[in-house]
Amino acid sequence: MSNFKIAEDSVDPNAVPQRVLHTGAKMPGIGLGTFGSDRFSNEEIAEAVKGAISIGFRHIDCASVYGNEDYIGNALKEVMDSGEIKREELWITAKLWNDKHAPEDVIPACKKSLKDLQLDYVDLYLIHWPFPNFHEKGCDVDSRSPDAKGYIHENFMKTWRELEKLVEMGLVKHIGTSNMTIPKMKLLLKDAKIQPACNEMEMHPHMQQQEFFDYIIENGIAPIAFCPIGSPTRPDRDKTADDTVDIEDPIVLKIAKKLNVHPAVVCVKWAVQRGQTPIPFSVFRNEYLGNISCTISEPLTDEDMAELATIDKNNRLIKGHVFLWKDGQTWEDLWDMNGEVTPA
Ligand SMILES: NC(=O)c1ccc[n+]([C@@H]2O[C@H](COP(=O)([O-])OP(=O)(O)OC[C@H]3O[C@@H](n4cnc5c(N)ncnc54)[C@H](OP(=O)(O)O)[C@@H]3O)[C@@H](O)[C@H]2O)c1
Repeated sequence: MSNFKIAEDSVDPNAVPQRVLHTGAKMPGIGLGTFGSDRFSNEEIAEAVKGAISIGFRHIDCASVYGNEDYIGNALKEVMDSGEIKREELWITAKLWNDKHAPEDVIPACKKSLKDLQLDYVDLYLIHWPFPNFHEKGCDVDSRSPDAKGYIHENFMKTWRELEKLVEMGLVKHIGTSNMTIPKMKLLLKDAKIQPACNEMEMHPHMQQQEFFDYIIENGIAPIAFCPIGSPTRPDRDKTADDTVDIEDPIVLKIAKKLNVHPAVVCVKWAVQRGQTPIPFSVFRNEYLGNISCTISEPLTDEDMAELATIDKNNRLIKGHVFLWKDGQTWEDLWDMNGEVTPA
């Protein structure tokens, strides 16, 4: 028996902006993040998934490393058992974790996510990071995996080929990347048989990644924005003294005051209007309702958008220290700052 019901104050999912992908498929232009940053239980996150779907969300961003796909699977089953929502109305993303890049591990890892999510297919399957570097959950930023490696294109393509097979097997509708750079994406686009449909990347007003954003749009790839609010409550291990706070930015605060909304909502609204698909996380109904409602309310003015474009600080929050592979490196080495892939 399912107790799931569409809420009376639900936003019409058909009114929410959609992104048309290279296959012609439509992806809902806002999703719910499901990484609880160690602050929320799996039960709370699964409850948020049901709550978010009940108020109009149709896109859920999952990953095996978040450790909650089985709980989310129960939530999705309850939603679909209610008969109120069909599978094809939902957009579910899952991600291959770094310890499963070996070609023989990819298909089993995807099948495990499908089993946990209780689905026959996912709409999008991403390679979570372009490095096969594993680290223990919750470890500190100085921790390194002894067998960590840099980006080796030949190896990445072997992993990609397995993702292509997943499409051919019908287990995955689209494939994509996350935490990439322009130099790595150029290599992938040259060699992929099935091109990436989406690239999930950090984007918020203080980290706009304009050049990369333009590059992937030009290449027909839809950008998905993680940490769209600047992840204000991310774990302390992911914070550094120089990090800035988007929701305290004077321009964001000024627009929020004018619209009488939380500054977080300005970040989400800006993202959708700029053309990326934000996946804000929240387990609180008032917050996720605010996040989806703002996608259908009156748009930000051209002046607001122009002002928000000026506050980029190139402030990367998810620096990825734990994926470094050699002594003496800095996190910038992960991001190919000089325009070429950092040698492995
Ligand atoms: N591909 C990747 O490598 C990668 C990396 C990081 C994240 N992600 C994905 O992106 C998702 C989002 O990133 P994130 O969770 O780090 O950061 P985020 O979405 O930028 O920030 C989430 C926090 O913002 C606050 N918030 C959300 N909506 C709000 C509202 N309307 N009003 C006020 N506060 C609001 C909440 O804080 P409170 O809980 O305190 O209210 C929430 O915990 C993750 O859950 C995950 O699915 C992917």
